[in-house]
Amino acid sequence: MSVIRTAILGFGTVGEGVYRTIKTHQQELKEVLGAEVEVSAVLVQNEQKERKVDKGILVTTNFEEILKLPQLDIVFEAIVGKEPSFSYLKEALVAGCHIITANKEMFAEHGQELLDSADRQGARVGFEATVAGGVPIIQILQQLLRVNNLETIQGILNGTSNFILTEMRDKQLSFEDALALAQEKGFAEADSGNDIHGFDAYYKTKILSQVAFGEQPETSSFQVAGISGVTIEQIEVAERLGLRFKHVTELKREKGQVQASVQPVLVSPSHPFYHVEGVDNAVNVTTDLVGSLTLQGPGAGMLPTASAMVEDLVHVWHRPLLKFGKQQEKEHLETRQQDGNAS
Ligand code: HSE
Repeated sequence: MSVIRTAILGFGTVGEGVYRTIKTHQQELKEVLGAEVEVSAVLVQNEQKERKVDKGILVTTNFEEILKLPQLDIVFEAIVGKEPSFSYLKEALVAGCHIITANKEMFAEHGQELLDSADRQGARVGFEATVAGGVPIIQILQQLLRVNNLETIQGILNGTSNFILTEMRDKQLSFEDALALAQEKGFAEADSGNDIHGFDAYYKTKILSQVAFGEQPETSSFQVAGISGVTIEQIEVAERLGLRFKHVTELKREKGQVQASVQPVLVSPSHPFYHVEGVDNAVNVTTDLVGSLTLQGPGAGMLPTASAMVEDLVHVWHRPLLKFGKQQEKEHLETRQQDGNAS
């Protein structure tokens, strides 16, 4: 049986989740891919740290060493921050690898460049894990928007914020204690300021906008606020009024321009996000045909995020499904036209 050779860049919660999932789901992967999936290398910051990885796997701090591996097929990237992630992924594409990333900050800024580079190299890019953790919203949007015309998108895109708001309301935990719990559970970013001040949701919203509208909102008109100012007293007053605080992204196109905001808002029981609790994320899409559609599921955590990345492995290996905007359909049409001309 043939072997698909992979490397994982970063061995924090997400990188370790990908490693474990490839091992625990080897049989499922074999069936769907007709090949074994091997983790050939793991890129870490400190080689000496104790890690549960098999002997024979290259554990290194040196990315060039990984690129020298013979027949490397896929690079999973789960590092924090824009660099060196972006440079590594560019190099991986040039070296002929497909890439799969969970790095929203990097992809919000450099996603299009990586997709263009992948096209030139005949490689593919998976980025499902950049938005909404285990919820396969990128795949669903790509499918839904082939014929449906999008009207609005709303989302709860930061699991940590939703978890904190839920714990503060249900268990009267202080903001600090709820955040500490989110960190303990591996939901929060290495710098949790990104979660509680809205930046994590901001990056995800930009990626979602590019998938949905083919462009990102203007930064100058993009309102961003986190949940750090929401107090337990406000939550209690809202509860007495039958309302709940949620950290909500809103995206729509008005007069030809994409409008976006990410901020805490109060929702009533009739809103699709009222019952979205804990670390769950949710995305509500309204279109001309389907009406209102809501997807909900775990927005952070080791295995849900690994699920998105390992599902991406299947997609990038089989076909180039994940692209921004209408590019995928355009290429499909061009291929059909070429086939028609040839026959
Ligand atoms: N810190 C992020 C969150 C992780 O809480 O949503 C998943 O992107």
